[in-house]
Amino acid sequence: MSIYLLTFITIVSFLYYFFTKNFNYWKARNVKGPTPIPFFGNYIDVFFRRKHVGMLFSELYNQYPDEKVVGLYRMTAPTLLIRDLDIVKQVLIKDFDSFSDRGLHYSKKQLGDNLFHADVTVMKILRKHLTSVFTPSKFKANFEVLASRADKFVEYLDNATLKESEINTLPAFRKYGADSIMMGAFGIDMDPYNDDNDLCDLLDAAIQTPSYFLELELLFPGTLSKYNLSIFPENVAKFCKQIIQIGSQLDAVSKIDQNRTMDVLMGLRREGNVSSGKISDDQKELCMKVTDDVLAGQVFIFYLAGYGNTSLVGTYAMYHLAKNSDAQEKMIQEIDEVLRKHGGKFSYEALKEMNYLQMVFDETMRMHPLTNSVTRNVGRDIQLDGTDFVIKKDTTISISPYGIQHDEKYYPEPEEFKPERFSPENVKRRHPCAMMSFGHGPRSCLGLKFAQLQFGICMVKVFSKFRVECSKNMVDKITITPTRLLLTPSENIYLRLARRDTLC
Ligand code: HEM
Repeated sequence: MSIYLLTFITIVSFLYYFFTKNFNYWKARNVKGPTPIPFFGNYIDVFFRRKHVGMLFSELYNQYPDEKVVGLYRMTAPTLLIRDLDIVKQVLIKDFDSFSDRGLHYSKKQLGDNLFHADVTVMKILRKHLTSVFTPSKFKANFEVLASRADKFVEYLDNATLKESEINTLPAFRKYGADSIMMGAFGIDMDPYNDDNDLCDLLDAAIQTPSYFLELELLFPGTLSKYNLSIFPENVAKFCKQIIQIGSQLDAVSKIDQNRTMDVLMGLRREGNVSSGKISDDQKELCMKVTDDVLAGQVFIFYLAGYGNTSLVGTYAMYHLAKNSDAQEKMIQEIDEVLRKHGGKFSYEALKEMNYLQMVFDETMRMHPLTNSVTRNVGRDIQLDGTDFVIKKDTTISISPYGIQHDEKYYPEPEEFKPERFSPENVKRRHPCAMMSFGHGPRSCLGLKFAQLQFGICMVKVFSKFRVECSKNMVDKITITPTRLLLTPSENIYLRLARRDTLC
């Protein structure tokens, strides 16, 4: 046998061993799950961008209806998919301290310290300071700013309907999402309605294209932090750092509105070192240095969540309202009645009275959770409730919002759009973790109330002027594209807008 052939066989054998050595992990623990294939594990369709990871998790959730947990391999990394809602509650709430990290870390210079991916120390400190942005008094103070951005959106739609018979909904909502988060949180006019300004679309493409560095990290954990690599492109980090620079220039001349997120970020910048305060008697105070990289990370997560999620929830809601005219009429009637009661004036207080609108939001989020999974890293060996199974430190846990929220055990006729499922009585009857779109527990979505505000204001403004109708190019069933970070429709969602009498 030639030396070349021997070397070749040795290398192939070594690679085969290396990329399959974990594949007995779940079998050895008696956990059922799909058979992995070398190198890819159960991730081959995700790797080749043929399937969104959120849809893979949902399919696996459906394939094992009798199991509380399912063992799978993301590339070579053992990952436990939790199906049982009591275990979900244990992981996210009851034993949170043992599951407090999401387990994906990358270059801190390139957005890695954003609150979503931050380690538990940074998370505890930043959450303490940033929570102040999401209080009812701040929302009330920001209401007019957000309402004026929704007015701009309605004006844009109005002009668009004069030119075209159908609106391509998602790109339109993307402009509103970007505009409202940039003005509402940072006080910066991004000017997304200007045809010559493609910043919003450039950022969207850069942020939402899934990076292969994710797979690299799954194969070789720790590589991204070690080599200062990021899952988001450098130009996105640059944009976020520029926002911080603009903020610091405005701060130097005291020109920042104190109700904005930017004001809190600049306060942290001025302090330099910040702490978590005393969280509990048996936990010591945590401290961190606030650099511009840390602050840029927070700009990033607010921007991504504020434009990306908001544009999708608006699009999905319009789609279902067009297909379900009864629900649309009920929502419009409520908007009209509440505004009439408030003398035609739209305010934060009026919005709070629109309960059906809130149910439309919840049902849209049930049918279309935007995140692929709610993820936690196991911090210590721990037994899972209701099983004799001990899960080992450093394993990744995934929960499938899409799987749970389309399970007819919790939501009969799951493919039907029925906002009434979210009446207070119906919500009380369900397990709290049957709704996973915003996670749960101390690491749940920090911006949920802000997202509801952005959505609510926009819907009231749009439906005070228009009704939405099915159009000839509208798809009958939405499928999810594998090539975007958030769960996004593969198809363009075309809708028709018909004018009605204006109320506000
Ligand atoms: C429809 C809109 C939104 C959806 C569906 C959504 C969804 C989520 C989900 C699923 C998580 C992870 C929860 C968990 O792991 O338990 C999360 C975390 C987070 N969200 Fe949202 N989000 C939305 C809007 C927003 C907005 C508008 C903001 C800020 C302006 C925001 C800021 C955050 C932050 C900072 C975290 C990380 C929290 C932490 O790890 O401590 N989100 N979001």
